[in-house]
Amino acid sequence: MTVRSVVLGCGSYLPRQILTNAELATRVDTSDEWIVQRTGIRQRHIAAEGEFTSHLAINAARAALADAGLDAQAIDLIVLATSTPDNTFPATAVAVQHGLGINHGAAFDLQAVCSGFVFALATADNFLRTGAYKRALVIGAETFSRILDWNDRGTCVLFGDGAGAVVLEAQDQPGKSGDRGVLTTHLRSDGRHKSKLYVDGGPSSTQTVGHLRMEGREVFKHAVGMITDVIVDAFNATGLSAEDINWFVPHQANKRIIDASAHKLHIAPQKVVLTVDRHGNTSAASIPLALSVAVRDGRIKRGDLVLLEAMGGGFTWGSAVLRW
Ligand SMILES: CC(C)(COP(=O)(O)OP(=O)(O)OC[C@H]1O[C@@H](n2cnc3c(N)ncnc32)[C@H](O)[C@@H]1OP(=O)(O)O)[C@@H](O)C(=O)NCCC(=O)NCCS
Repeated sequence: MTVRSVVLGCGSYLPRQILTNAELATRVDTSDEWIVQRTGIRQRHIAAEGEFTSHLAINAARAALADAGLDAQAIDLIVLATSTPDNTFPATAVAVQHGLGINHGAAFDLQAVCSGFVFALATADNFLRTGAYKRALVIGAETFSRILDWNDRGTCVLFGDGAGAVVLEAQDQPGKSGDRGVLTTHLRSDGRHKSKLYVDGGPSSTQTVGHLRMEGREVFKHAVGMITDVIVDAFNATGLSAEDINWFVPHQANKRIIDASAHKLHIAPQKVVLTVDRHGNTSAASIPLALSVAVRDGRIKRGDLVLLEAMGGGFTWGSAVLRW
């Protein structure tokens, strides 16, 4: 027998306010046509004044717990991926823990920008498989609207706010590729690329929060190669191939990057879950938001093989394969 981290439920939350491309075009020199053609994004959600990352995360966590049919007290580990915490410290995960009425176990934040959910999933999976914890909430939650330079048309059109979560439980499985749960995870990083996508502020450097800065073309240039490399790692580790995968749920940064990655890996277009048109790039929240959409609309079902990937600031990148 092998211990696997099995998904018991997933859920998400999007702030009420929607910002369309047409509305953005009244603020900066851009157009719906340019944004859709270069990115596939049509709209994004924006957190209300006074609505924090922890609030989005708590709503997503409650939805995931309801989907799992679990009380919050069953959770003994919370790993929250975010680059937009409520405060410099303590961790937003602790606010989420408190908001859910939990005061046992551990809760901490994880920072890997847009790869955050895959890094958090891998972290929780490792804790569950060692027997250290029994049930984990893995959350991606962001309020990127708060770190955007709303005068920079090269970045402000790309991002949005939201949160998604999954509940994982350590379960004994036969130890075969037909097992439910997380089958493999692969994480990578390379700090040489820091200046291509970063925030120009922070407690230790400027004592300000700062704004997101990006060399979009440079990020684009590296993205497809890094994503496909780390997915090939996942295929090699499991003996699985693109044909075995039921659903490809990539980080939702840009439709062109997603299409090019799927094409290079020979993943059929009908297996690709796309939400970037409606959500924009919600960084660490994008994968659990997309998972939630595909579970709710009946695409992802129990027993399906799901491939996740993400790439983001750092650079960081990673992949995961799980059987739902
Ligand atoms: C940002 C991105 C959409 C820009 O598309 P691009 O085709 O690379 O465009 P460029 O940056 O080369 O800019 C081309 C022109 O469009 C302009 N432009 C940039 N943003 C624009 C906007 N929102 N509206 C209209 N024009 C815009 C540029 O100023 C430039 O004009 P110029 O030729 O007169 O100088 C693209 O590079 C991208 O998606 N990169 C990856 C970003 C990403 O996914 N980051 C997150 C990773 S987690």
